[in-house]
Amino acid sequence: MTREELAAAALDARKNAHAPFSKFLVGAALEDSTGRIHTGCNIENATYGLTLCAERVAIFKAVSEGAREFRRIAVAADTATLTPPCGACRQIIWEFCRDIEVTLVNLDGKSETLQMSELFPRPFDVSFL
Ligand code: THU
Repeated sequence: MTREELAAAALDARKNAHAPFSKFLVGAALEDSTGRIHTGCNIENATYGLTLCAERVAIFKAVSEGAREFRRIAVAADTATLTPPCGACRQIIWEFCRDIEVTLVNLDGKSETLQMSELFPRPFDVSFL
């Protein structure tokens, strides 16, 4: 799957977001080492604090189905300034995916691709201890 197709999958997953509190819809699409795509969307909750971001939903779905190696992730949101993963998601992406490629995309088709090491340059990583 191309980077553009992965971005399209993230935009599509965004439509399933459950965000009645923030109304901010986010989608993610994660490609594993076999080429399989695992999607996620943000899922909010009445307590607010139990909200799960789209990126973590995609990763936890993938891990729960046996995937362990990942190639790239795309994140989609409706913002002129592209939305990067939050701090909590950066930690989880690093732990499960290491220095993968991250493509950010919006509804106008604007996109940018970075490495996780640019977004999260000094990670807490038990393998470094
Ligand atoms: N959110 C994500 O799903 N991913 C991000 O990268 C940023 C934030 C969600 C969490 C919450 O449901 C809403 O966006 C507003 O913060």
